[in-house]
Amino acid sequence: MAFPESFLQELKLRNDITELVSSYITLKRRGRNMVGLCPFHGEKTPSFNIYTENGSFYCFGCGVGGDVITFVMKMENLDYVDAVKLLAQRAGMNMPEDSYDDSMSRIRTRVYEANREAARYYYKTLYSPDGKSGLDYFHGRMLSDRTIRHFGLGFADDDWSSLCDYLIGKGFTKNELTAANLAVKQRSGSGVYDRFRNRVMFPIIDLRGNVVAFGGRIMTDEKPKYLNTSDTPVFKKSENLFSLNNAKNSGSRTLILCEGYMDVIAVNQAGFQNAVATLGTALTKEQAMLMKRYADEVVICYDSDEAGQKATARAIPILRSAGLLIRILTVPSGKDPDEFIKSKGADGAAAFKNLIDKSGNDVEYRLEKLKSSYNLNSSDGKVQFLEEAARVVAEIYSPIEREVYISKLCKEFEISKDSFQRQVDSITRRKNREDKRKEIRKIRNDLSGRGDKLDTEHAKKPRSSSAEEALIAYLINNPDSVEYISERVDPGMFRNELMKRYFTYFSDRIAQELDPLNNLTADFSEDERSRVYKILSKHSAIAQTRSALDEYIKIINEESKRLSKKDLSNMTAEEIQKYLNSKK
Ligand code: UTP
Ligand code: MN
Repeated sequence: MAFPESFLQELKLRNDITELVSSYITLKRRGRNMVGLCPFHGEKTPSFNIYTENGSFYCFGCGVGGDVITFVMKMENLDYVDAVKLLAQRAGMNMPEDSYDDSMSRIRTRVYEANREAARYYYKTLYSPDGKSGLDYFHGRMLSDRTIRHFGLGFADDDWSSLCDYLIGKGFTKNELTAANLAVKQRSGSGVYDRFRNRVMFPIIDLRGNVVAFGGRIMTDEKPKYLNTSDTPVFKKSENLFSLNNAKNSGSRTLILCEGYMDVIAVNQAGFQNAVATLGTALTKEQAMLMKRYADEVVICYDSDEAGQKATARAIPILRSAGLLIRILTVPSGKDPDEFIKSKGADGAAAFKNLIDKSGNDVEYRLEKLKSSYNLNSSDGKVQFLEEAARVVAEIYSPIEREVYISKLCKEFEISKDSFQRQVDSITRRKNREDKRKEIRKIRNDLSGRGDKLDTEHAKKPRSSSAEEALIAYLINNPDSVEYISERVDPGMFRNELMKRYFTYFSDRIAQELDPLNNLTADFSEDERSRVYKILSKHSAIAQTRSALDEYIKIINEESKRLSKKDLSNMTAEEIQKYLNSKK
């Protein structure tokens, strides 16, 4: 796959990175750069940098970097070609003909199409005689036809191949169906069969309205209760939320986070469009960041059983670090939201609304949990509770919020504010010291390259690696120096394999008079691409003078004459002698 270079150049020119990023996050000027809170990981102090001089970004917190295209890929969860399409559209440019239709992009398109057809087929089946048991099941669970249509629910019949037959008849190949995980390959032979059979079906729809996956529920007590689409070229379970496509249009900046499909649907039917659910897995950081884009606050509404409470405890820190406010809704008498709403009959909506209004925030929730685990009638129990409570309060980031809880607890337990405040402060100080220490360790490791999984050689050969890295940055920042550099340095002199690959790649591109950064996607992995931007963010064009360049070249020359132990062990005696002579 290749887009014409001139097209990519114009695309980047017409999509200013600062302007584009500002439409997602708030940026502030810092020196010549712009900084903001990274949209790809939760943070409270900005480490996300925009370098306007070369149209790139890099986050020192999570190590993600790239150009406008990378940014859109990550932000909108798009593949390369679709990100380019979106930017072209944004800038009012026409896509170049055909050149971009690589095989991966083609298979994605086909998987989307197959999923859409499958969803239509399942829906149609639900309302056909074959789907009677499914429709009875949904009706039995109190879903109206309107709700069924709204969510595009359906039915996969008991046949082993009805969906496959239907889709193959529509021109899909067996490969496309297995890629979509709608079909499974037979163990022997070349045949395929339907993945979902005799299940009611829940389509999962992404933010652009594509059907990306399905969940299918068995109608009996058989296991697994829910079968979900595995990860496919268009679907990653850990990065999607059920019904976010509906919730984002709810007009509310609050999301209700449920455990399952049926809960979300029941909550919707009761009039709350802003419900979402994870898809049978624990909440991930990615899902929390995704919620943060559409909400300021999340009401956790998990089952009140033990598993649900554990999941709640796990979700709280993840949502907090994504910068979300949290409330916790407790469904009474061990029910899940769906059962609760149903049990209230016609008053379901009002009763649920009441639960939402009553729900406390995560601090209140954790304090209540703590209270119930100590005997507050004994002095010992009280002391233990207050010590634990101080820990919870110390985790609160906002000083005002902290103050509120301190006052409340002190009043409730009739203790002096002074002593409790001191307890909280000492925990906070210890925590701050630990955080600082961790941060320093991280910076130190970063500088030394220790623990660097991508560039494992840096820590072993710091001097040569640093010079090689700086030279690469110089070359990218000053493409007109390519001749000067290539007269003095050749790739064979590089001791760091990754840097050698970068150097070879960038020199070649520049020698062909191509923009060095235009097309990294084809030749490097995601981490390798981010690393290029890290290198560039470390060595800004202005700091790199001509005399610095000569210093890099000198070091690379010196270092190339040094041999590693491995080299030595592979040399003949004669070669070693020659090497030693050369050093005299
Ligand atoms: P639950 O077992 O709590 O189911 O699983 P539920 O949502 O109450 O479903 P109903 O009311 O019995 O129909 C919660 C969620 O965990 C995932 C599904 O997303 C489900 O909605 N799950 C559960 C699976 O993915 N596979 C399973 O086998 C079970
Ligand atoms: Mn349920």
